[in-house]
Amino acid sequence: MTPTQELQKPSIKTALPGPKSLEIINADAQYVTPSYPRPDYKLVADHAQGVWITDPDGNVFLDCNAGVAVCSTGHCHPEVVAAIQKQVSELIHLCGTDFYYRHMPELGKKLNEIVPIDGPTKTHFANSGAEAIETALKLAMYHTRRQKFIAFQSSFHGRTLGALSLTSSKKAQRLGFMRQPLDVVHIPYPNKFRHFITDQATDEGTVSCDVLTWLNKVFQTTTPPEEVAGIILEVVQGEGGYVPAPTVFVKELRRICDEHGIMLIVDEVQSGMGRTGKMFALDHHEGVKADIVCMAKGLGSGMPIGACTARADIMDWHKGAHASTFGGNPVALTAALKTIELLEGGLVENSRNVGAYLEAGLNKLKEKYSVIGDVRGYGMMLGVEFVKGSGDDPHAADADLRDRVEIACFEKGLIILGCGSNSIRWSPPLILTKEHVDVALEIFDQAVAESIH
Ligand SMILES: Cc1ncc(COP(=O)(O)O)c(C=O)c1O
Repeated sequence: MTPTQELQKPSIKTALPGPKSLEIINADAQYVTPSYPRPDYKLVADHAQGVWITDPDGNVFLDCNAGVAVCSTGHCHPEVVAAIQKQVSELIHLCGTDFYYRHMPELGKKLNEIVPIDGPTKTHFANSGAEAIETALKLAMYHTRRQKFIAFQSSFHGRTLGALSLTSSKKAQRLGFMRQPLDVVHIPYPNKFRHFITDQATDEGTVSCDVLTWLNKVFQTTTPPEEVAGIILEVVQGEGGYVPAPTVFVKELRRICDEHGIMLIVDEVQSGMGRTGKMFALDHHEGVKADIVCMAKGLGSGMPIGACTARADIMDWHKGAHASTFGGNPVALTAALKTIELLEGGLVENSRNVGAYLEAGLNKLKEKYSVIGDVRGYGMMLGVEFVKGSGDDPHAADADLRDRVEIACFEKGLIILGCGSNSIRWSPPLILTKEHVDVALEIFDQAVAESIH
């Protein structure tokens, strides 16, 4: 099931970044846009296999980030590589918006089987998460003939202008772009670890009820529900801090959408494709289905692909209403078909089982360190939130500590990445084994111990 894993531990041989890595970083600073939100540590990849990344200086890192939740089947999974290579030798591109090839209906049919949507679906193929979101926004507007949207504070849906109207996880994402093109009202996200008013921990019922009361106020004042085209939900908020929404909340949101003819758009760009130990995060909320589902990241094992799947009766737009030259490229679609085969062949289960093992280990560290305030999530989508842990307000967020832990892990050869203001996300390749988890947790433990001042 997994590519060969000969290495047992990371191996750091040079100061980081090493001299060859530094050359690349310097050239990058000269020629590449400074807008990329890179973390404080600087990882340069030369090649990667399975869960291991090697930099140009020969340092080997254990990857528990998977290129931000993308390399779902691990780096360069041999079956994905073979499928891509075969496809590249047969057909690289034709432009599926004007012509036909088998891969589009094949992947559309597969997504129809697995997405959490009731009844028949149709899919529009794109190249990224943001593009999948743009599709969903246009489709919801077209179908409902409405223009307003509801999104959540701390959400992330991409940086193109339509998606940016929804995105609200960090000030830097919007700073300088002034007015947003879409009419979006942001309501608080039901985060039980930090209630949006008190900033204190609460229970799922209370925070869900309070957010729904807020939504009702919005409906009664600025945003009549009969003018709302869609509500866009990350079932597990990703960039915002790996925060799952309570079932009671997700169910009620579905009911509200039904009551008012609002499209429930579920953004599974980060949480989808087995990451949470089920194929989709929404599958954790039994009986709740979306109208429109957006996917990208883990769908193509690293090949650029986005997909927006909707109820077939909703995807009722006219010829020419939406299309893209590269979207649904046969090479990317081949990677996606193979990825889903591998996910169904055991990786979703591995995400669930090894993810639970990782979560148990992180919870042990939470017992050990008062600065670990929360461990949360499902499968291999786990967030660890850092707090002050003592003093006047032990619950207060500790962003500096989170940053120090992130860097300490890197220096010891473990790749993890922050999310939210003070959390670390664990989003490893879904091929991760318990042995890898043991190695990762040992490093994480040391990194936390060293980083507490
Ligand atoms: C939930 C979610 N939606 C949308 C996006 C945007 O995807 P992309 O960066 O591929 O445009 C992201 C990216 O992190 C995401 O996490």
